[in-house]
Amino acid sequence: MPNQHEPELERRERGAQGGGGEARRQRQHQQGKLLARERIELLLDRGSFEEFDQLVEHRAQAFGLDEQRIPGDGVVAGYGRIDGRTVFVFAQDFTVLGGTLSEANAAKICKLMDQAVQVGAPVVGLNDSGGARIQEGVASLGGYADIFLRNTLASGVVPQISAILGPCAGGAVYSPAITDFVLMVNHTAHMFVTGPEVIKQVTHEEVSKEDLGGARTHNQTSGVAHFLADDDAHCLALIRELLSFLPSNNLDDPPLRATSDAADRAEAGLDTLVPEASDQAYDIRDAIRGVADEGYFFEVQELFAPNLVIGFCRLNGRSVAVVANQPLHLAGVLDINASVKGARFVRFCDAFNLPLLTFEDVPGFLPGTQQEWGGIIRHGAKLLYAFAEATVPKLTVITRKAYGGAYCVMASKHLRTDLNLAWPTAELAVMGAEAAVKVVYRREIEAAEDPAAMQKQRAEEFRRQFASPFPAAELGYVDAVIRPRETRARLIRALEMLQGKRQAMPKKKHGNIPL
Ligand code: HXC
Repeated sequence: MPNQHEPELERRERGAQGGGGEARRQRQHQQGKLLARERIELLLDRGSFEEFDQLVEHRAQAFGLDEQRIPGDGVVAGYGRIDGRTVFVFAQDFTVLGGTLSEANAAKICKLMDQAVQVGAPVVGLNDSGGARIQEGVASLGGYADIFLRNTLASGVVPQISAILGPCAGGAVYSPAITDFVLMVNHTAHMFVTGPEVIKQVTHEEVSKEDLGGARTHNQTSGVAHFLADDDAHCLALIRELLSFLPSNNLDDPPLRATSDAADRAEAGLDTLVPEASDQAYDIRDAIRGVADEGYFFEVQELFAPNLVIGFCRLNGRSVAVVANQPLHLAGVLDINASVKGARFVRFCDAFNLPLLTFEDVPGFLPGTQQEWGGIIRHGAKLLYAFAEATVPKLTVITRKAYGGAYCVMASKHLRTDLNLAWPTAELAVMGAEAAVKVVYRREIEAAEDPAAMQKQRAEEFRRQFASPFPAAELGYVDAVIRPRETRARLIRALEMLQGKRQAMPKKKHGNIPL
């Protein structure tokens, strides 16, 4: 005998499934965007989604809202699995009142986040929304603030990932900004605090939506976003891949992935990677791929501050976070953007038990008024602070230049790094030979019969004496000078040795990183 309540349940479920109606659903597809439920389907392991609060409705009356009640209220929320591990997910449904944030659907998101923290599972937000629901006034603003608080409390406890799959305007950008990783879809995703119209009114500046806050802008120029996706499906696949490197929470270890790549594989190509001439560029990603399992490196923030490369790889199945100076761009110099990029990544990895592997080839900090007035002192200090406070296993490989303050910053021995390796091509010095002799021998060079020849001779002497790994090895500042081909095996053995590493910080509420 059919249950007498079934028709009512079906009616409500149909309402939730249908969202804002066929016309709006079609419009969403015409814009190249998937529907909220389609996105969740693609993100999670097949059939694993468990929805809750599907029947939540808003209680607002004003501006005709009492006539527009749709079960679920524009957010699909619940949990499911990615590669078999629990993940919480919410997806804003743009077909329902523009996916706008209401008091009621904010409460759904908050409930989900509270539960995610309690069970120690990541939170993935699929954002596609016109922002605060204007008709609800301050109640919707309150909803945002409730979410911001939870983003902050969950920070460092569970990974939080934000996909931007449509508009994201006003204060709405601040929830993604607090989360650990932001992914944006090219052309359909936009983020800005104030849109082009307001900018025109206030500053008379004219800028397109795309230039102001498109996916490329935030990946390349502002550094707000970490990944640029071609479309929704690509974005969701990137999230799955990103999570494959991360633990579910700050008490877990990252997942292991079996590999057929031998732990002691010697990579002969690394022996000749660093060019003979010290000012010649090479791609540091070749060094990373040379040591990584199956030569695979998953790069993060590829388009922003390319002079510092960050991302994940695996060593003998274990997730490892890589931070590397990139000689291909600006000779691998550290500037404001690179420092901020590196610092945030290092702090994330330290919070989530991801060992840090640093590849170093850095001529120093970028000189100039733009950098000084922009606060390179403050920003460079962030990277220094982040490496210094990190207590996860830390491994450093100096491939070539380790000059000046940048030597100290890039996970030097002095910052409690567990293993500091140097290749024979390493040069650890206060500065490069040419610059050094101009300071130390300036008078002598000026007084010489042939100043150029004298400078060259002094530089050569300096290079012989200091531009090598051996003075540092004599002091114990590098633990070993190794043949590059051995790097993978040495790193893997060190990671195994460091498995049980425990390092405590002095008791304090929290430090004061130079923000
Ligand atoms: C209520 C909204 C809405 C909003 C969009 N809609 N934004 N309803 N409050 N904020 C509704 C529209 O009325 C429309 O309803 C549907 O959503 C789709 O919107 P369209 O404009 O038709 O879509 P599109 O052309 O794609 O433009 C999308 C948009 C635009 C770029 C997001 O709608 C827009 O600019 N909206 C306003 C954005 C904004 O200023 N938000 C407030 C930001 S301030 P129908 O019924 O026709 O389908 C903020 C404060 C947060 O968020 C503070 C936290 C601290």
